[in-house]
Amino acid sequence: MTDPAPARRLFIKTYGCQMNVYDSERMADLLRPLGYAMAEGPEDADLVVLNTCHIREKATEKVYSELGYIKQMKLDRQARGKSMTIAVAGCVAQAEGKEIMHRQPAVDLVIGPQAYHQLPELIARTHRAKGERLAADFAAEAKFDRLGPERKADGVTAFLTVQEGCDKFCTFCVVPYTRGAEFSRPAEAILAEARDLAAQGVREVTLLGQNVNAYGGEGGLAALVRQLAQVEGLDRIRYTTSHPADMDLALIAAHGEVEALMPYLHLPVQAGSDRVLKAMNRAHTAESYLRLVERIRKARPDMALAGDFIVGFPGERESDFEATLQLVVEIGYASAFSFKYSRRPGTPAAALPGQLAEEVKDERLARLNALLDDQQKAFNASQVGATLPVLFERAGRHPGQLSGRSPYLQAVHVAGPDHLIGQIVPVRIEGAAKMSLAGALALEFA
Ligand code: SAH
Ligand code: SF4
Ligand code: F3S
Repeated sequence: MTDPAPARRLFIKTYGCQMNVYDSERMADLLRPLGYAMAEGPEDADLVVLNTCHIREKATEKVYSELGYIKQMKLDRQARGKSMTIAVAGCVAQAEGKEIMHRQPAVDLVIGPQAYHQLPELIARTHRAKGERLAADFAAEAKFDRLGPERKADGVTAFLTVQEGCDKFCTFCVVPYTRGAEFSRPAEAILAEARDLAAQGVREVTLLGQNVNAYGGEGGLAALVRQLAQVEGLDRIRYTTSHPADMDLALIAAHGEVEALMPYLHLPVQAGSDRVLKAMNRAHTAESYLRLVERIRKARPDMALAGDFIVGFPGERESDFEATLQLVVEIGYASAFSFKYSRRPGTPAAALPGQLAEEVKDERLARLNALLDDQQKAFNASQVGATLPVLFERAGRHPGQLSGRSPYLQAVHVAGPDHLIGQIVPVRIEGAAKMSLAGALALEFA
């Protein structure tokens, strides 16, 4: 007997941060029991979900142009007697639900990040053509409770959302409005999900949260990390993204003591000028950030740091920008993400005087990126000659090649047999580029 062909096909396109990646996986988990298998592309899909990002104007505009293409595919399918349901999820859905439906009537359903557990019901309703096209309330608790325990691992690494939402209200940022107030999942639910992932062969989890180190469960993130380190089969733990103000002593200590906790920390600073940091409502100064990094490096001397930076915040003077460059020099980043300030409707900074010209932002971004690129190259080059434990994640692009990650999250390419995928193996690093390392297996493997 052959299996019946899946009745329906699903295509999800994901924009934005890792939290959206996690949510997209969970939406697929939720729809699988309803007969939805993955489609190759949107043109083959009965249901297309765009999981969107609202963080910068460009990210948001991409959604509308993508919807234009998808609408055409829907019309093509309809001409062939088939149908397509179009759902917009994620942070644009939350922030601009009504506008989406107005600007693109081909959209059947708009669903905010806290309403994903309602997806099957909403799709059914849409199919009954009863309307209710907008679900954008805030109830993270219901979301996680009702997303269900079944999760299909995909590979040897996995994201695991432990915290969602943000109470920080940095003046440039939409996240507190699109993801709502901080909410932490109970440790038991997280541990159960981690055990389930480990049983499916996952060796590394990355704990996710908009402010993951503000995790509010008993004992904070440090306690959670220590419990996760006990999970059989789980050898590597990472977490992202952290706010400097929530980097407590217990978590710093864990970095020195918990072997599974990887020496890589994404700790955005955004700017190096206290005047700008204050206008951003960042709750830290350049000096307090430097001292914090000092303490972290005392606990874990080889800690690789990653940062986020915004250039061209309203009122940023040349001297403010130079303070950012100065801070970068003092820290020495292993990797970084830098952005031109993008004016987001409804955020306090959008109303500030002193909005800068695009050319000024371009010029500052180029200077900052040149410095950050040099630091990243230097960090990677510093590993040449070392032997690093690499978790192999997949076959490489070339035959006989494997791709994995170093403890410092660098991509590492090595010639080796497929059966090493899922194993942590010592690799001698022989070459370094900006984005990756090349090496050779340090031991003989049959
Ligand atoms: N919660 C995380 C990250 C949030 S969004 C944190 O607090 O660090 C990811 C990054 O996008 C931010 O760190 C910031 O550098 C950038 N970002 C957010 N809003 C922006 C805006 N309006 N313009 C440009 N970059 C922005
Ligand atoms: Fe946005 Fe600031 Fe919250 Fe990060 S801490 S999500 S930058 S408001
Ligand atoms: Fe974007 Fe929302 Fe993440 S705005 S960065 S998808 S939290």
